[in-house]
Amino acid sequence: MQPSTSPARSPHPGSWQDRPAAQQPDWRDHPDHSEAVRWLASAPALVTAAEVRRLRHTLAGLTATDELLLQLGDCAESFYECAPRHVTGKLRLIDRLADRLHELTGRSVVRVGRMGGQFAKPRSRETEEHGGVTVPSFRGHMINSEPAGPVSRRADPRRMVWAYEASAGVQHVMREYRRTRGDGTGDTTMADGPWSSHEALVLDYESRLIRRDPETGDPYLASTHLPWIGERTRGPDDAHVALLSRVANPVGCKLGPTADPDDVLRVCDTLDPRREPGRLVLIPRMGHDRIRQALPPIVRRVADAGHPVIWLNDPMHGNTVRSSLGLKTRHLTAMITEALRFRDIVEEHGRRPSGLHLEVAVDDVTECVGGPVRDEDELRRRYTSLCDPRLNPDQATELIEAWAKGTATTR
Ligand code: PEP
Ligand code: CO
Repeated sequence: MQPSTSPARSPHPGSWQDRPAAQQPDWRDHPDHSEAVRWLASAPALVTAAEVRRLRHTLAGLTATDELLLQLGDCAESFYECAPRHVTGKLRLIDRLADRLHELTGRSVVRVGRMGGQFAKPRSRETEEHGGVTVPSFRGHMINSEPAGPVSRRADPRRMVWAYEASAGVQHVMREYRRTRGDGTGDTTMADGPWSSHEALVLDYESRLIRRDPETGDPYLASTHLPWIGERTRGPDDAHVALLSRVANPVGCKLGPTADPDDVLRVCDTLDPRREPGRLVLIPRMGHDRIRQALPPIVRRVADAGHPVIWLNDPMHGNTVRSSLGLKTRHLTAMITEALRFRDIVEEHGRRPSGLHLEVAVDDVTECVGGPVRDEDELRRRYTSLCDPRLNPDQATELIEAWAKGTATTR
């Protein structure tokens, strides 16, 4: 099935339902669709309102101090890697990398995983070729599955229920980890989190998981602590921005190299009309060769308008290239260059670069080139990503160290 994009415009400026929504699975005719969304609408919250309030409070503090934010995890989570041992491994990796950042900078680091719901992927192409056969693209385990056949690639709305159940398991382990690590006490001097985050992509899923905060009465998105809007769905008049404008969570938004400063400002005005610190995280992912041209006018415009956003750099998604073997890859040198350029640009505008958003595997994968992966010939050894090429832990450490010290030779 193909994703559909509805060109319809809403007659009601506040509503998201009739707005254009890119990257949505076309599964409304599936016999289980209505049952699946009904089930989600009555399911318990996956994250509590108190947790979401706590993260917002932490991020509000981060805007005013020199604390850092580190957000990382898989490009696409797998249903098959949600057992406690997988989740604990990911949480330990997040802590290990954040501890290193803390050690090098002396600043406390707020920790956020791309996990606990990162099951839906936007794709640039609707189909892929496999051995001469054209099949729909893999779109994450919430939508279809990765084996390249017509049945496995069919969008199935029951997968939303399975994604919910998988997320519930991950959130449970994350909550226990936060509790036993001792940060449930309110002491945020050293470490806060790890909190969950994912791209809020599938509207059938996210819109059914809005709940009321029992204390404030405000709606919040109960699928994750920190939802973000992807590069392909950030249109200021589009459904994703409208939906997330309704919830009290902190919200992220990716910004690619073609982002227009006026559009970014409209997104800021919609998501954060009251200019509240801790509400909005802007995540440029522009590419090492484009960030110097594309980012300054955006930082200037957002700063002049008085939006107290958190600036985070994703040095992964603007630096994806095809290797000579045909595999998607990213070069560590390019990623370090983007991250350092990001830091300089934000500082030059009198704003604070608050950290990095990374795709990192727990295992010693060979998906990106750099560090222990010396060239593209080594990529085939352990390339296990469901979607984009991730850094392995050594490569992530090198990137974080370069960013912290600001002394990479590529600068
Ligand atoms: C991602 O984070 O995996 C992703 C698809 O990012 P972007 O929306 O920035 O392309
Ligand atoms: Co990705």
